[in-house]
Amino acid sequence: MKEHNRFMNELFRIVNGSLRLDIDKVRNYTSFLADKLEKEGDKFSAGRLRKMLEENDQQLRPVDLGYARALPVDAESRFPLIERVNWRAVLEAPVVLTQDQRDVVNEFLSVAKSYALLDAQGAAGSINLLMYGPPGTGKSRIARFIAKELDLELYMARLDGLISSFLGSTSKNIRALFDFAARTPCVLFLDEFDAIAKLRGDSQELGELKRVVNSFIQNLDTIGPQSIVLAATNHEDLLDSAVWRRFSYRLELNFPIAELRRQLWLQFLKPFDFREREVELLVDLSEGFTGADIEEVCQRLQRRRIVLQHDPELKDAFQILQNIGIGEGKERRFLSLIRGNDVSAIISALRDRNAKLYTSAALAGLLGVSKATAYRRTLKRDEKNG
Ligand SMILES: Nc1ncnc2c1ncn2[C@@H]1O[C@H](COP(=O)(O)OP(=O)(O)O)[C@@H](O)[C@H]1O
Ligand SMILES: [Mg+2]
Repeated sequence: MKEHNRFMNELFRIVNGSLRLDIDKVRNYTSFLADKLEKEGDKFSAGRLRKMLEENDQQLRPVDLGYARALPVDAESRFPLIERVNWRAVLEAPVVLTQDQRDVVNEFLSVAKSYALLDAQGAAGSINLLMYGPPGTGKSRIARFIAKELDLELYMARLDGLISSFLGSTSKNIRALFDFAARTPCVLFLDEFDAIAKLRGDSQELGELKRVVNSFIQNLDTIGPQSIVLAATNHEDLLDSAVWRRFSYRLELNFPIAELRRQLWLQFLKPFDFREREVELLVDLSEGFTGADIEEVCQRLQRRRIVLQHDPELKDAFQILQNIGIGEGKERRFLSLIRGNDVSAIISALRDRNAKLYTSAALAGLLGVSKATAYRRTLKRDEKNG
């Protein structure tokens, strides 16, 4: 039974393509199946399938083009609507998620993997996942992870690029995008998904816009359970409830809690030599920071190491953290409350926050002053506060 099911996903799609007379879909999935068979050691069947493709190609396309066909382009500008994300080129450590988030991703993955089985039992719904949350919390990275786990190509469409100044073209673009995904073995990733919703308020031509949103919904419906669609948005509140309902799986991402920040720091600090105690301080200081922020701190440490030729220390990380913490809309970040380099102010704020964690030794490391100085300052400050 298990053995039998392994190639059913492809077989169903090939049959579906034949019945709809969608030659491209049939060819793409046959080629994909041949690759899969070869990977699993059945060179003979793979060869036969490829031969069939070759012999029955009226357009005399080169075989080695495989299923990586031309990407769909904008109806007006001819710019590609979609971009292939080469996840194979990057070696990434696991995404850092809470248990609940991991459960959603794993369930989604197992459903996507056993589509044929579910379909045979009449239990296949659409395999759509909506990820929402602030920028830099790992949505794109999860998309890469999912494509990798399913061993499928990942195609990303930025929705803002899809929206043409000519509304008629927008509908055409949406259509072209979904047509492409329907006949290509892939994960389709709709990034900046809120662009479609934002559009509604921006324009005068409300009737026309409604049509665009509707065409989106329709396409999502008709692409059916055969394709895997991921969408990401930073503004979930902008999404239409009709659009929202189209996604059977939803994953909320947020500013990582302390335990996740610890894992993120450990992951990104790997090339350096930070002690556990120092990591603990960074975890606390980075409250309100995203995974992308933490990664940025570490990238800047790396740059300092190369340019200044010294191993980064805690005070370097603290400086960069402070620097990233500045800025509008960052009020969630505890560090944005401590501005500038007024040592007394910093000591005071940190002692207020957690006197047990921010000992004078810890403060010395953070501020890059001697232990004696930090001790004196801390003492002075604590005395003043009674
Ligand atoms: N939860 C996370 N786990 C691991 N890395 C993360 C996480 N969140 C953010 N990052 C890092 O930050 C970078 C940017 O994240 P990204 O996935 O592009 O965020 P988003 O798409 O939500 O804006 C990623 O490449 C990744 O290295
Ligand atoms: Mg992203």
